[in-house]
Amino acid sequence: MISYKDLGLVNTREMFKKAVAGGYAIPAFNFNNMEQLQAIIMAAAETKSPVILQVSKGARQYANQTLLRYMAEGAVEYAKELGWENPQIVLHLDHGDSFETCKSCIDMGFSSVMIDGSHLPYEENVALTKKVVEYAHQFDVTVEGELGVLAGVEDEVSAAESHYTKPEEVVDFVTKTGCDSLAISIGTSHGAFKFTPEQCTLDPQTGRLVPPPLAFDVLAAIEEQLPGFPIVLHGSSSVPQDEVDTINKFGGALKAAVGIPEEQLRKASKSAVCKINIDSDSRLAMTAAVREVFANKPGEFDPRKYLGPARDNMKKLYIHKIKEVLGSDNKA
Ligand code: G3H
Ligand code: 13P
Ligand code: ZN
Repeated sequence: MISYKDLGLVNTREMFKKAVAGGYAIPAFNFNNMEQLQAIIMAAAETKSPVILQVSKGARQYANQTLLRYMAEGAVEYAKELGWENPQIVLHLDHGDSFETCKSCIDMGFSSVMIDGSHLPYEENVALTKKVVEYAHQFDVTVEGELGVLAGVEDEVSAAESHYTKPEEVVDFVTKTGCDSLAISIGTSHGAFKFTPEQCTLDPQTGRLVPPPLAFDVLAAIEEQLPGFPIVLHGSSSVPQDEVDTINKFGGALKAAVGIPEEQLRKASKSAVCKINIDSDSRLAMTAAVREVFANKPGEFDPRKYLGPARDNMKKLYIHKIKEVLGSDNKA
């Protein structure tokens, strides 16, 4: 049993309390490799933003859970080296799919876990989430639960349509499970293709697809039921069109990729939404930079020469999210 406290990590409790009160949101960035992690830490250290490093099932399969945990421990020391005196860094399990997975992460030093029972019948979701909370809280590890289903793919769970969170269920769920934060469904979804062209309208000026707005009425009803309770938004990439254009210009084939407009995330960040999950945008930033190098310098074969620009581009993206969208800069 390794305590996250010995690794210099923190849980989400204080961080979320301050974010809800302060009207901003904490970035939860997924990481799978060293360049992503470096970019996240450089961006957080430079802006003094609390940050959540999240590890998905795909990341654990790709990079190994133990290695990722040691990388996060290294990230705390790296942040200090960069001049961030008191780094506020959470290591979080994203979309935990079983009690055993959550326990294994808690036992090896994660400071926060998500148990995603959103695809289960309600009572089973309650029972599973409660079991994880009871275990996690013994070690002061915080737990995110989920109610409502996002369209698209949540790791291996896929749903054709989203089912918004039912505001009438949230008090019962939070009370029975004791979870510390709640992921909700209000129209976001995972990946870079969040809406079909048919669901969007065309902006005649830019020629871009404009997605339907998020269900802020559902969010408001949830906040009314659970005043001040930390709310989480998954699937919150904005799919920056300049990155998509660069990818397509240099040989990619990402047609009709569309995300959540930044102004909607800005609005959400000012509410009880205090954790915003971003993964796809980082993948786009990395891919755009790598494609550009490959196209312009076909003789290049030193990975540092294309992963370096990829890292720079991700860092720029993370700083933009922190300062211009979530408002979490200078909060740590
Ligand atoms: O929730 C989905 C995340 O973007 C993680 O995706 O399992 O492919 O790493 P992944
Ligand atoms: P995006 O695919 O929109 O980046 O969402 C990531 C996410 O929710 C991870 O849990
Ligand atoms: Zn997610």
